Amino acid sequence: MPIRSSVYAACAVVVAALVVGAAAPVAAAPPDPADPGGPAVSGTAAPVAAASPEASRPGGPSGAVGAPGVGDPFFPLAGNGGIDVQDYNLKLAYDPATDRLEGTATLRIVATQDLRRFDLDLREFTLGTVTVDGVAATFTRDGQELQITPRRTLRKGASFTVVVPYSGVAKPVTDPDDSIEGFVPTGDGAFVVNEPQGSPGWYPANDTPRDKATYTIAMTVPAGLTAVGNGALVSQTAAGGRTTFTWRERFPMAPYLTTITIGKFVVTTGRAGGIPTYVAVDPSQAAASAPVLRKLPEMVAFLQDLYGPYPFETVGAIVDDAPDVGYALETQTKPAFDRAPDDATLLHELSHQWYGDAVTLRQWPDIWLHEGFATWSEWIWAERHGGQTAAQRFADLAATPASDDDFWNPPPGDPGEAANLFAGSVYDRGAMTLQALREKIGDRAFFTVMRRWYAEHKYGNVSTPEFVALAQQVSRQDLGAFFKAWLYTPGKPAFLADDGAAVASARLAASEGGGRRR
Ligand code: ARG
Ligand code: ZN
Repeated sequence: MPIRSSVYAACAVVVAALVVGAAAPVAAAPPDPADPGGPAVSGTAAPVAAASPEASRPGGPSGAVGAPGVGDPFFPLAGNGGIDVQDYNLKLAYDPATDRLEGTATLRIVATQDLRRFDLDLREFTLGTVTVDGVAATFTRDGQELQITPRRTLRKGASFTVVVPYSGVAKPVTDPDDSIEGFVPTGDGAFVVNEPQGSPGWYPANDTPRDKATYTIAMTVPAGLTAVGNGALVSQTAAGGRTTFTWRERFPMAPYLTTITIGKFVVTTGRAGGIPTYVAVDPSQAAASAPVLRKLPEMVAFLQDLYGPYPFETVGAIVDDAPDVGYALETQTKPAFDRAPDDATLLHELSHQWYGDAVTLRQWPDIWLHEGFATWSEWIWAERHGGQTAAQRFADLAATPASDDDFWNPPPGDPGEAANLFAGSVYDRGAMTLQALREKIGDRAFFTVMRRWYAEHKYGNVSTPEFVALAQQVSRQDLGAFFKAWLYTPGKPAFLADDGAAVASARLAASEGGGRRR
Protein backbone atom coordinates (compact mmCIF):
# COMPACT_ATOMS: atom_id res chain seq x y z
CA MET A 1 0.00 0.00 0.00
CA PRO A 2 2.08 2.91 -1.20
CA ILE A 3 1.56 6.25 0.42
CA ARG A 4 1.58 9.53 -1.37
CA SER A 5 4.94 11.00 -2.04
CA SER A 6 6.06 13.78 0.18
CA VAL A 7 5.36 17.46 -0.02
CA TYR A 8 8.48 17.85 2.03
CA ALA A 9 10.79 18.71 -0.80
CA ALA A 10 8.81 21.82 -1.47
CA CYS A 11 8.77 22.80 2.17
CA ALA A 12 12.26 21.99 3.28
CA VAL A 13 13.78 25.02 1.73
CA VAL A 14 10.83 27.34 1.95
CA VAL A 15 9.96 28.21 5.48
CA ALA A 16 7.02 30.19 4.22
CA ALA A 17 5.40 26.97 3.09
CA LEU A 18 5.75 25.64 6.58
CA VAL A 19 4.31 28.73 8.11
CA VAL A 20 0.93 28.22 6.57
CA GLY A 21 1.05 24.50 7.24
CA ALA A 22 0.94 23.75 3.58
CA ALA A 23 1.20 20.01 3.98
CA ALA A 24 -1.86 17.88 3.79
CA PRO A 25 -1.90 15.20 6.43
CA VAL A 26 -1.10 11.72 5.26
CA ALA A 27 -3.46 9.10 6.53
CA ALA A 28 -2.05 6.53 8.88
CA ALA A 29 -2.19 3.00 7.61
CA PRO A 30 -5.35 1.51 9.01
CA PRO A 31 -5.33 -1.99 10.40
CA ASP A 32 -5.99 -4.52 7.69
CA PRO A 33 -9.08 -6.46 8.70
CA ALA A 34 -8.15 -9.29 6.37
CA ASP A 35 -4.89 -9.87 8.20
CA PRO A 36 -5.16 -10.91 11.82
CA GLY A 37 -1.41 -10.71 11.95
CA GLY A 38 -1.40 -6.96 12.30
CA PRO A 39 -1.99 -3.72 10.53
CA ALA A 40 -1.33 -3.28 6.88
CA VAL A 41 2.15 -2.31 5.93
CA SER A 42 2.37 0.81 3.95
CA GLY A 43 4.79 2.93 2.29
CA THR A 44 7.38 3.35 -0.26
CA ALA A 45 8.81 6.42 -1.72
CA ALA A 46 8.58 8.06 -5.04
CA PRO A 47 11.90 7.84 -6.79
CA VAL A 48 13.51 11.18 -7.40
CA ALA A 49 16.62 10.39 -9.34
CA ALA A 50 16.63 8.36 -12.48
CA ALA A 51 19.12 5.55 -12.35
CA SER A 52 19.62 5.59 -16.07
CA PRO A 53 17.89 6.84 -19.19
CA GLU A 54 15.55 3.85 -19.09
CA ALA A 55 14.02 5.18 -15.90
CA SER A 56 12.55 8.08 -17.78
CA ARG A 57 10.34 5.85 -19.87
CA PRO A 58 8.49 3.81 -17.31
CA GLY A 59 5.90 2.79 -19.85
CA GLY A 60 8.51 1.51 -22.26
CA PRO A 61 8.37 -2.04 -23.50
CA SER A 62 11.34 -3.14 -21.44
CA GLY A 63 10.05 -1.55 -18.24
CA ALA A 64 11.90 0.98 -16.18
CA VAL A 65 14.88 0.81 -13.91
CA GLY A 66 14.12 1.51 -10.27
CA ALA A 67 15.95 4.54 -8.93
CA PRO A 68 18.97 3.79 -6.72
CA GLY A 69 17.69 6.02 -3.91
CA VAL A 70 14.59 7.86 -2.75
CA GLY A 71 16.37 11.18 -2.60
CA ASP A 72 16.71 11.75 1.10
CA PRO A 73 18.63 15.01 1.51
CA PHE A 74 21.12 13.33 3.84
CA PHE A 75 21.29 9.83 2.31
CA PRO A 76 20.31 10.15 -1.36
CA LEU A 77 21.14 6.53 -2.20
CA ALA A 78 19.35 4.99 0.78
CA GLY A 79 16.18 3.18 -0.17
CA ASN A 80 15.26 2.44 -3.77
CA GLY A 81 12.67 3.46 -6.29
CA GLY A 82 9.93 1.26 -7.67
CA ILE A 83 9.67 -1.21 -4.81
CA ASP A 84 7.55 -1.50 -1.68
CA VAL A 85 8.76 -4.29 0.60
CA GLN A 86 5.92 -6.06 2.41
CA ASP A 87 7.86 -8.62 4.43
CA TYR A 88 11.42 -9.63 5.24
CA ASN A 89 12.28 -13.19 6.21
CA LEU A 90 15.92 -13.45 7.34
CA LYS A 91 17.42 -16.85 8.15
CA LEU A 92 20.85 -16.12 9.56
CA ALA A 93 23.70 -17.71 11.47
CA TYR A 94 26.47 -15.89 13.30
CA ASP A 95 29.71 -17.13 14.77
CA PRO A 96 31.20 -14.63 17.23
CA ALA A 97 34.56 -16.42 17.03
CA THR A 98 35.00 -15.38 13.40
CA ASP A 99 32.39 -12.58 13.05
CA ARG A 100 31.04 -14.51 10.08
CA LEU A 101 27.42 -13.93 9.22
CA GLU A 102 25.66 -16.08 6.68
CA GLY A 103 22.16 -16.76 5.63
CA THR A 104 19.32 -16.09 3.27
CA ALA A 105 17.08 -13.08 2.98
CA THR A 106 13.63 -13.55 1.43
CA LEU A 107 11.80 -10.34 0.60
CA ARG A 108 8.19 -10.11 -0.52
CA ILE A 109 7.92 -6.95 -2.59
CA VAL A 110 5.29 -5.06 -4.59
CA ALA A 111 6.45 -3.28 -7.74
CA THR A 112 5.27 0.33 -7.70
CA GLN A 113 6.25 0.80 -11.33
CA ASP A 114 7.22 -1.45 -14.20
CA LEU A 115 10.67 -2.77 -13.38
CA ARG A 116 13.25 -4.15 -15.73
CA ARG A 117 15.74 -3.78 -12.90
CA PHE A 118 15.59 -2.68 -9.27
CA ASP A 119 18.01 -2.17 -6.40
CA LEU A 120 18.30 -3.26 -2.80
CA ASP A 121 20.81 -1.80 -0.34
CA LEU A 122 23.57 -4.14 0.85
CA ARG A 123 27.22 -3.59 1.76
CA GLU A 124 30.03 -6.13 1.58
CA PHE A 125 29.18 -9.84 1.60
CA THR A 126 29.48 -12.56 -1.01
CA LEU A 127 26.26 -13.48 -2.74
CA GLY A 128 24.94 -16.81 -3.92
CA THR A 129 22.29 -17.21 -6.60
CA VAL A 130 19.74 -14.41 -6.37
CA THR A 131 16.27 -15.42 -7.49
CA VAL A 132 13.11 -13.52 -8.33
CA ASP A 133 9.97 -15.65 -8.06
CA GLY A 134 12.18 -18.72 -8.03
CA VAL A 135 14.02 -17.87 -11.23
CA ALA A 136 17.70 -16.96 -11.17
CA ALA A 137 18.26 -13.24 -11.71
CA THR A 138 21.44 -11.45 -12.69
CA PHE A 139 22.90 -8.91 -10.34
CA THR A 140 25.66 -6.36 -10.10
CA ARG A 141 27.09 -4.49 -7.14
CA ASP A 142 27.79 -0.78 -7.07
CA GLY A 143 28.68 0.48 -3.61
CA GLN A 144 25.71 -0.26 -1.42
CA GLU A 145 23.46 -0.76 -4.43
CA LEU A 146 22.65 -4.37 -5.20
CA GLN A 147 21.18 -4.11 -8.70
CA ILE A 148 18.94 -7.02 -9.56
CA THR A 149 17.72 -7.79 -13.06
CA PRO A 150 14.98 -10.42 -13.08
CA ARG A 151 14.57 -12.67 -16.09
CA ARG A 152 11.30 -10.96 -16.96
CA THR A 153 10.15 -7.40 -16.46
CA LEU A 154 7.99 -6.96 -13.37
CA ARG A 155 4.73 -5.16 -13.92
CA LYS A 156 3.54 -2.30 -11.76
CA GLY A 157 1.40 -3.65 -8.94
CA ALA A 158 2.83 -7.17 -9.15
CA SER A 159 3.90 -8.91 -5.97
CA PHE A 160 7.17 -10.83 -6.24
CA THR A 161 9.64 -12.65 -4.03
CA VAL A 162 13.38 -12.08 -4.01
CA VAL A 163 15.78 -14.52 -2.39
CA VAL A 164 19.34 -13.38 -1.59
CA PRO A 165 21.78 -15.90 -0.09
CA TYR A 166 24.81 -14.14 1.38
CA SER A 167 27.80 -14.62 3.65
CA GLY A 168 30.81 -12.75 4.91
CA VAL A 169 32.28 -10.94 7.86
CA ALA A 170 29.78 -8.50 9.29
CA LYS A 171 31.42 -5.12 9.71
CA PRO A 172 30.07 -2.10 11.54
CA VAL A 173 29.09 0.92 9.46
CA THR A 174 30.67 4.25 10.34
CA ASP A 175 28.30 7.20 10.44
CA PRO A 176 28.77 10.74 9.24
CA ASP A 177 29.10 11.68 12.94
CA ASP A 178 31.85 9.03 13.30
CA SER A 179 29.81 6.78 15.54
CA ILE A 180 29.44 3.11 14.64
CA GLU A 181 26.30 1.14 13.94
CA GLY A 182 25.11 -1.95 12.12
CA PHE A 183 26.49 -5.29 13.27
CA VAL A 184 28.90 -4.27 16.03
CA PRO A 185 30.93 -7.18 17.50
CA THR A 186 31.04 -7.35 21.30
CA GLY A 187 33.00 -9.60 23.67
CA ASP A 188 30.32 -12.29 23.49
CA GLY A 189 28.35 -11.61 20.32
CA ALA A 190 27.15 -8.53 18.49
CA PHE A 191 25.20 -5.37 19.32
CA VAL A 192 22.94 -4.59 16.36
CA VAL A 193 21.54 -1.08 15.78
CA ASN A 194 20.97 0.76 12.49
CA GLU A 195 20.10 4.41 12.82
CA PRO A 196 20.40 5.88 10.31
CA GLN A 197 22.10 3.48 7.87
CA GLY A 198 23.32 0.28 9.52
CA SER A 199 20.83 -2.21 8.07
CA PRO A 200 22.62 -2.79 4.74
CA GLY A 201 25.61 -3.78 6.88
CA TRP A 202 23.84 -7.04 7.71
CA TYR A 203 20.93 -7.67 5.36
CA PRO A 204 19.62 -6.57 1.96
CA ALA A 205 17.08 -3.84 2.67
CA ASN A 206 15.06 -1.10 1.11
CA ASP A 207 16.78 1.14 3.60
CA THR A 208 14.38 4.04 3.88
CA PRO A 209 12.19 4.82 6.90
CA ARG A 210 9.32 5.27 4.41
CA ASP A 211 9.19 1.60 3.57
CA LYS A 212 7.98 -0.16 6.67
CA ALA A 213 7.47 -3.90 6.55
CA THR A 214 6.91 -6.92 8.75
CA TYR A 215 9.91 -9.04 9.69
CA THR A 216 10.76 -12.60 10.67
CA ILE A 217 14.35 -12.95 11.81
CA ALA A 218 15.77 -16.38 12.64
CA MET A 219 19.29 -16.33 14.04
CA THR A 220 21.40 -19.39 14.81
CA VAL A 221 24.17 -18.89 17.38
CA PRO A 222 26.46 -21.14 19.43
CA ALA A 223 24.74 -22.79 22.40
CA GLY A 224 24.81 -20.60 25.49
CA LEU A 225 24.23 -17.40 23.56
CA THR A 226 20.91 -15.65 23.05
CA ALA A 227 19.80 -13.76 19.94
CA VAL A 228 17.25 -11.06 20.71
CA GLY A 229 15.11 -9.59 17.96
CA ASN A 230 12.09 -7.36 17.51
CA GLY A 231 8.58 -8.48 18.32
CA ALA A 232 7.66 -11.88 19.69
CA LEU A 233 9.85 -14.94 20.17
CA VAL A 234 8.24 -17.51 17.91
CA SER A 235 10.56 -20.40 18.66
CA GLN A 236 13.83 -21.36 20.26
CA THR A 237 15.32 -24.66 19.13
CA ALA A 238 18.63 -26.37 19.88
CA ALA A 239 20.52 -28.64 17.51
CA GLY A 240 24.15 -29.60 16.99
CA GLY A 241 25.57 -27.30 19.64
CA ARG A 242 23.72 -24.31 18.29
CA THR A 243 20.48 -22.54 19.13
CA THR A 244 18.09 -20.89 16.69
CA PHE A 245 15.97 -17.99 17.89
CA THR A 246 13.11 -16.98 15.61
CA TRP A 247 11.56 -13.56 16.12
CA ARG A 248 8.52 -12.10 14.42
CA GLU A 249 7.53 -8.43 14.30
CA ARG A 250 4.10 -8.32 12.70
CA PHE A 251 3.72 -4.57 12.98
CA PRO A 252 5.19 -2.27 10.35
CA MET A 253 8.84 -1.56 11.07
CA ALA A 254 11.36 0.71 9.38
CA PRO A 255 14.64 -1.05 8.51
CA TYR A 256 16.69 1.16 10.85
CA LEU A 257 14.70 -0.15 13.84
CA THR A 258 15.54 -3.82 13.34
CA THR A 259 17.86 -5.75 15.64
CA ILE A 260 19.12 -9.22 16.31
CA THR A 261 21.50 -8.56 19.18
CA ILE A 262 23.58 -11.55 20.29
CA GLY A 263 25.34 -12.34 23.53
CA LYS A 264 25.20 -13.93 26.94
CA PHE A 265 22.03 -12.53 28.40
CA VAL A 266 19.93 -12.99 31.49
CA VAL A 267 16.38 -13.05 30.18
CA THR A 268 13.33 -12.01 32.17
CA THR A 269 9.83 -12.25 30.78
CA GLY A 270 6.69 -10.79 32.28
CA ARG A 271 3.93 -8.33 31.54
CA ALA A 272 3.55 -4.60 31.42
CA GLY A 273 -0.17 -4.10 31.76
CA GLY A 274 -1.46 -6.55 29.19
CA ILE A 275 1.69 -6.44 27.07
CA PRO A 276 4.19 -9.33 27.19
CA THR A 277 7.70 -8.20 28.09
CA TYR A 278 11.09 -9.69 27.22
CA VAL A 279 14.12 -8.10 28.84
CA ALA A 280 17.64 -9.34 28.07
CA VAL A 281 20.53 -8.09 30.17
CA ASP A 282 24.25 -8.71 29.88
CA PRO A 283 25.30 -10.11 33.31
CA SER A 284 27.91 -7.37 33.69
CA GLN A 285 25.11 -4.77 33.54
CA ALA A 286 22.56 -6.62 35.65
CA ALA A 287 23.15 -4.92 38.99
CA ALA A 288 23.27 -1.42 37.58
CA SER A 289 20.21 -1.83 35.37
CA ALA A 290 17.88 -3.74 37.71
CA PRO A 291 16.43 -0.74 39.59
CA VAL A 292 15.82 1.08 36.30
CA LEU A 293 14.32 -1.84 34.38
CA ARG A 294 11.93 -2.46 37.24
CA LYS A 295 10.22 0.78 36.19
CA LEU A 296 9.59 -0.35 32.62
CA PRO A 297 5.94 -1.36 33.16
CA GLU A 298 5.24 1.91 34.97
CA MET A 299 6.87 3.88 32.18
CA VAL A 300 4.84 2.11 29.50
CA ALA A 301 1.65 2.79 31.47
CA PHE A 302 2.63 6.45 31.87
CA LEU A 303 3.29 6.88 28.16
CA GLN A 304 0.04 5.15 27.24
CA ASP A 305 -1.90 7.53 29.48
CA LEU A 306 -0.12 10.48 27.99
CA TYR A 307 0.00 9.66 24.29
CA GLY A 308 -2.33 6.75 23.55
CA PRO A 309 -2.22 2.95 23.46
CA TYR A 310 1.19 1.33 23.03
CA PRO A 311 1.58 0.68 19.29
CA PHE A 312 3.05 -2.85 19.27
CA GLU A 313 2.26 -6.23 20.79
CA THR A 314 5.43 -6.80 22.81
CA VAL A 315 7.76 -4.57 24.78
CA GLY A 316 11.09 -4.98 26.53
CA ALA A 317 14.73 -3.97 26.49
CA ILE A 318 18.18 -5.22 25.56
CA VAL A 319 20.98 -4.11 27.86
CA ASP A 320 24.34 -5.10 26.42
CA ASP A 321 27.94 -4.25 27.19
CA ALA A 322 28.98 -2.42 24.03
CA PRO A 323 30.69 0.74 25.29
CA ASP A 324 32.25 1.56 21.91
CA VAL A 325 28.80 2.36 20.58
CA GLY A 326 28.15 5.23 22.96
CA TYR A 327 24.40 5.53 22.52
CA ALA A 328 21.13 3.66 22.93
CA LEU A 329 18.60 3.06 20.18
CA GLU A 330 14.84 2.71 20.07
CA THR A 331 14.92 -0.66 18.24
CA GLN A 332 11.27 -1.53 17.78
CA THR A 333 9.61 -3.23 20.78
CA LYS A 334 13.00 -3.68 22.49
CA PRO A 335 15.18 -0.62 22.83
CA ALA A 336 18.87 -1.52 22.81
CA PHE A 337 21.27 -0.03 25.37
CA ASP A 338 25.01 -0.21 25.04
CA ARG A 339 25.24 -0.23 28.87
CA ALA A 340 22.92 -0.06 31.87
CA PRO A 341 20.56 2.88 31.21
CA ASP A 342 19.42 5.47 33.73
CA ASP A 343 15.72 6.29 34.18
CA ALA A 344 15.76 9.12 31.68
CA THR A 345 17.40 7.03 28.97
CA LEU A 346 14.97 4.13 29.41
CA LEU A 347 12.03 6.54 29.32
CA HIS A 348 13.52 8.27 26.26
CA GLU A 349 13.84 5.06 24.24
CA LEU A 350 10.41 3.79 25.30
CA SER A 351 8.79 7.07 24.25
CA HIS A 352 10.36 6.63 20.82
CA GLN A 353 8.07 3.62 20.35
CA TRP A 354 5.31 6.23 19.92
CA TYR A 355 7.37 9.00 18.28
CA GLY A 356 9.98 7.51 15.99
CA ASP A 357 8.90 3.90 15.64
CA ALA A 358 5.13 4.16 15.18
CA VAL A 359 5.18 7.76 13.86
CA THR A 360 8.26 7.95 11.71
CA LEU A 361 9.91 10.76 9.79
CA ARG A 362 9.74 10.71 6.03
CA GLN A 363 13.08 12.44 5.60
CA TRP A 364 16.07 12.40 7.95
CA PRO A 365 16.34 16.20 8.35
CA ASP A 366 13.05 16.01 10.31
CA ILE A 367 14.84 14.05 13.06
CA TRP A 368 13.65 16.51 15.73
CA LEU A 369 10.22 14.83 15.35
CA HIS A 370 11.90 11.87 17.04
CA GLU A 371 14.58 13.27 19.32
CA GLY A 372 12.81 16.44 20.43
CA PHE A 373 9.73 14.39 21.32
CA ALA A 374 11.69 11.72 23.21
CA THR A 375 13.65 14.34 25.13
CA TRP A 376 10.49 16.24 26.04
CA SER A 377 9.04 12.91 27.20
CA GLU A 378 11.92 12.66 29.67
CA TRP A 379 10.95 16.10 30.98
CA ILE A 380 7.27 15.30 31.48
CA TRP A 381 8.18 12.02 33.21
CA ALA A 382 10.36 13.95 35.66
CA GLU A 383 7.64 16.58 36.12
CA ARG A 384 5.06 13.95 37.00
CA HIS A 385 7.40 11.97 39.23
CA GLY A 386 8.62 14.54 41.72
CA GLY A 387 11.45 15.92 39.62
CA GLN A 388 12.01 19.20 37.89
CA THR A 389 9.02 20.50 35.93
CA ALA A 390 9.37 20.77 32.18
CA ALA A 391 8.88 24.53 32.58
CA GLN A 392 11.82 24.72 34.97
CA ARG A 393 13.96 22.62 32.67
CA PHE A 394 13.00 24.88 29.80
CA ALA A 395 13.81 27.99 31.78
CA ASP A 396 17.20 26.67 32.81
CA LEU A 397 18.09 25.84 29.22
CA ALA A 398 16.64 29.11 27.93
CA ALA A 399 19.19 30.88 30.10
CA THR A 400 22.00 29.41 28.02
CA PRO A 401 23.82 32.38 26.52
CA ALA A 402 23.54 33.04 22.80
CA SER A 403 27.31 32.74 22.63
CA ASP A 404 26.97 29.00 23.30
CA ASP A 405 26.84 28.17 19.64
CA ASP A 406 26.82 24.40 20.10
CA PHE A 407 23.81 24.53 22.35
CA TRP A 408 21.65 26.59 19.98
CA ASN A 409 22.89 25.27 16.64
CA PRO A 410 22.03 23.77 14.30
CA PRO A 411 18.34 24.75 14.54
CA PRO A 412 16.55 21.45 15.19
CA GLY A 413 14.28 21.57 12.15
CA ASP A 414 17.20 22.13 9.80
CA PRO A 415 20.26 20.20 10.98
CA GLY A 416 21.99 20.94 7.70
CA GLU A 417 24.04 17.78 7.27
CA ALA A 418 23.95 14.12 8.22
CA ALA A 419 26.75 14.57 10.75
CA ASN A 420 24.38 16.80 12.76
CA LEU A 421 21.48 14.33 12.92
CA PHE A 422 22.09 13.65 16.59
CA ALA A 423 23.44 17.05 17.58
CA GLY A 424 22.59 18.21 21.09
CA SER A 425 20.38 20.99 19.73
CA VAL A 426 18.17 18.45 17.93
CA TYR A 427 17.43 16.95 21.34
CA ASP A 428 17.42 19.94 23.71
CA ARG A 429 16.22 22.73 21.48
CA GLY A 430 13.83 20.23 19.89
CA ALA A 431 12.35 19.50 23.32
CA MET A 432 12.30 23.22 24.13
CA THR A 433 10.24 23.75 21.00
CA LEU A 434 7.57 21.40 22.36
CA GLN A 435 7.66 22.93 25.83
CA ALA A 436 7.41 26.42 24.32
CA LEU A 437 4.44 25.20 22.29
CA ARG A 438 2.87 23.80 25.44
CA GLU A 439 3.27 27.13 27.24
CA LYS A 440 1.98 29.02 24.24
CA ILE A 441 -1.17 27.04 23.46
CA GLY A 442 -1.84 25.59 26.91
CA ASP A 443 -1.83 22.04 28.24
CA ARG A 444 -5.21 21.12 26.90
CA ALA A 445 -4.46 21.98 23.30
CA PHE A 446 -0.90 20.73 23.58
CA PHE A 447 -1.80 17.26 24.76
CA THR A 448 -4.53 17.07 22.12
CA VAL A 449 -1.88 17.81 19.51
CA MET A 450 0.46 15.14 20.89
CA ARG A 451 -2.27 12.50 21.04
CA ARG A 452 -3.70 13.29 17.64
CA TRP A 453 -0.25 13.34 16.05
CA TYR A 454 0.21 9.81 17.30
CA ALA A 455 -3.30 8.51 16.58
CA GLU A 456 -3.44 9.95 13.08
CA HIS A 457 0.02 8.86 11.94
CA LYS A 458 0.60 5.59 13.78
CA TYR A 459 2.47 3.15 11.49
CA GLY A 460 2.98 5.91 8.96
CA ASN A 461 5.44 8.64 8.05
CA VAL A 462 5.37 12.34 8.77
CA SER A 463 7.00 15.69 8.09
CA THR A 464 7.39 18.86 10.14
CA PRO A 465 4.90 20.91 8.10
CA GLU A 466 2.25 18.35 8.98
CA PHE A 467 2.98 18.83 12.67
CA VAL A 468 2.81 22.60 12.32
CA ALA A 469 -0.51 22.28 10.50
CA LEU A 470 -1.97 20.10 13.26
CA ALA A 471 -0.77 22.43 16.02
CA GLN A 472 -2.33 25.38 14.21
CA GLN A 473 -5.57 23.53 13.63
CA VAL A 474 -5.94 22.43 17.24
CA SER A 475 -4.87 25.74 18.80
CA ARG A 476 -6.52 27.94 16.19
CA GLN A 477 -3.40 30.06 16.28
CA ASP A 478 -1.04 31.12 13.54
CA LEU A 479 2.14 29.42 14.68
CA GLY A 480 4.23 30.19 11.62
CA ALA A 481 6.55 32.71 13.23
CA PHE A 482 6.75 30.60 16.37
CA PHE A 483 7.94 27.45 14.60
CA LYS A 484 10.14 29.39 12.24
CA ALA A 485 11.98 30.85 15.21
CA TRP A 486 12.24 27.63 17.17
CA LEU A 487 12.97 25.16 14.41
CA TYR A 488 14.55 26.94 11.51
CA THR A 489 16.37 30.06 12.66
CA PRO A 490 20.02 29.62 13.65
CA GLY A 491 21.17 30.93 17.02
CA LYS A 492 19.30 31.66 20.18
CA PRO A 493 15.76 32.85 19.42
CA ALA A 494 15.84 36.63 19.56
CA PHE A 495 12.89 36.90 21.95
CA LEU A 496 14.68 34.93 24.68
CA ALA A 497 16.57 37.12 27.14
CA ASP A 498 20.26 36.64 26.59
CA ASP A 499 21.20 36.66 30.20
CA GLY A 500 22.17 33.68 32.28
CA ALA A 501 20.41 35.20 35.28
CA ALA A 502 17.15 36.02 33.57
CA VAL A 503 15.50 32.68 34.12
CA ALA A 504 12.11 34.12 34.94
CA SER A 505 12.02 36.51 32.03
CA ALA A 506 13.19 33.76 29.74
CA ARG A 507 10.19 31.74 30.77
CA LEU A 508 7.90 34.60 30.02
CA ALA A 509 9.62 35.22 26.76
CA ALA A 510 9.18 31.61 25.81
CA SER A 511 5.62 32.35 24.95
CA GLU A 512 6.69 35.03 22.49
CA GLY A 513 5.84 34.94 18.86
CA GLY A 514 2.22 35.94 19.26
CA GLY A 515 1.70 36.20 22.98
CA ARG A 516 0.46 33.63 25.42
CA ARG A 517 -3.10 32.48 24.98
CA ARG A 518 -4.84 29.62 26.62
N1 ARG B 1 18.02 7.58 18.26
C1 ARG B 1 19.05 7.36 19.25
C2 ARG B 1 18.52 8.03 20.51
O1 ARG B 1 17.56 7.66 21.02
C3 ARG B 1 20.38 7.87 18.87
C4 ARG B 1 21.01 7.18 17.71
C5 ARG B 1 22.37 7.72 17.45
N2 ARG B 1 22.93 7.11 16.30
C6 ARG B 1 24.09 7.44 15.76
N3 ARG B 1 24.45 6.81 14.71
N4 ARG B 1 24.81 8.41 16.27
O2 ARG B 1 18.97 9.00 20.99
ZN1 ZN C 1 16.35 9.43 20.92
